[in-house]
Amino acid sequence: MPEKPSSPRSPVLGAAIIALVVIGGGAAFAYTGGWLSPGRLTPQKIVAALTPPNVDPSGHRRNHAKGICFTGRFEANGGGAALSKAAVLASGTYPALGRLNLGTPDPNALDATVRVRGLGLRLTAPSGEEWRMAMIDPPFFPVSTPQAFYDLLKASGDKDPNAMASFAAAHPEIAAFGGWAKSAPYTPSYAENAFNSLNAFIFTDSKGGDHAVRWSFVPTAPVTAISDEELKGRGADSLEKEITDRVVAGPVSWKLMVTVANAGDRTNDPSKPWPEDRQKIDAGTLVIEKIIPEANGPCRDVNFDPTVLPAGVKVSDDPFPAARSAAYAVSFDKRMGESQSYPKETK
Ligand code: HEM
Repeated sequence: MPEKPSSPRSPVLGAAIIALVVIGGGAAFAYTGGWLSPGRLTPQKIVAALTPPNVDPSGHRRNHAKGICFTGRFEANGGGAALSKAAVLASGTYPALGRLNLGTPDPNALDATVRVRGLGLRLTAPSGEEWRMAMIDPPFFPVSTPQAFYDLLKASGDKDPNAMASFAAAHPEIAAFGGWAKSAPYTPSYAENAFNSLNAFIFTDSKGGDHAVRWSFVPTAPVTAISDEELKGRGADSLEKEITDRVVAGPVSWKLMVTVANAGDRTNDPSKPWPEDRQKIDAGTLVIEKIIPEANGPCRDVNFDPTVLPAGVKVSDDPFPAARSAAYAVSFDKRMGESQSYPKETK
């Protein structure tokens, strides 16, 4: 039987379909850009809120702007392999690239004026698979959600003298962080700080079992507490000088300690640490081999995005890593486009 000729599509219908596709695409862009919902938190807004009016962040990270780079190795002892099939947790030695930094949007901040210190880290497996992370030294985050972090940034820059008090009333979890910031001693060295993931992730073992975890890089160096006044007396950039000299004098290292959640522990709030008695596993040692100044160093072009994870590690229901990933990408794009202002060697 001859095939029935298909009915020719009406030109009006064709034009309508094209119009729908164009309008639909435009609406998707408008939604993604936040134009349809001006109140919605976007990574662009959060990154803009990080920079105070008196700071020029051009060419630099929009947070943790001051730092120093290193290359080194991670010596996995196999202790983490029962929890995660991540290649870099299997016994062996793997290349590491890291950045010790200060939690400030000001690339020229004086060391003693910055309360939070950080570590950006990239571990690379023999296959080239990467695990990127960015950790800080407080034992918990100041707030429970990315929206609250944005609100905190806005309140701290607000001219209204009651803005911070109103914020604290709406976000009582900040009180614990305030207590830490007031009482935790400064140290004279990055080598004496512990760096904590704070966000919870899921380790998947070789049998497919999931385990909720947080982790910390715990210093092997003895911790010597000093006051911020003493640190100030050592100079504006003493931390960078100190770590450079220390690495030349001998090995500088941290233990990777993995904390495993008990059933029922909340994984979606980095302001709430898990109880101290949770199982802790020593997974290996991070060793610095060489310090490299920020200017033109290999860290400049790296985004330590905490969602770049190897097989065997995945995000949990913690809302921060996704929000951080989006914000870090905005910051990375900005600073990469500002080559005139890239970090310069000044010291
Ligand atoms: C919504 C919450 C957060 C926002 C918006 C945010 C934002 C940022 C931005 C924009 C950067 C610069 C990225 C780049 O240009 O490469 C950065 C760096 C960093 N952040 Fe966050 N952050 C958040 C939460 C956290 C948390 C929870 C931690 C630690 C547990 C953390 C630790 C760090 C560290 C260590 C760096 C420096 C990494 C490096 O050396 O490149 N941040 N953050």
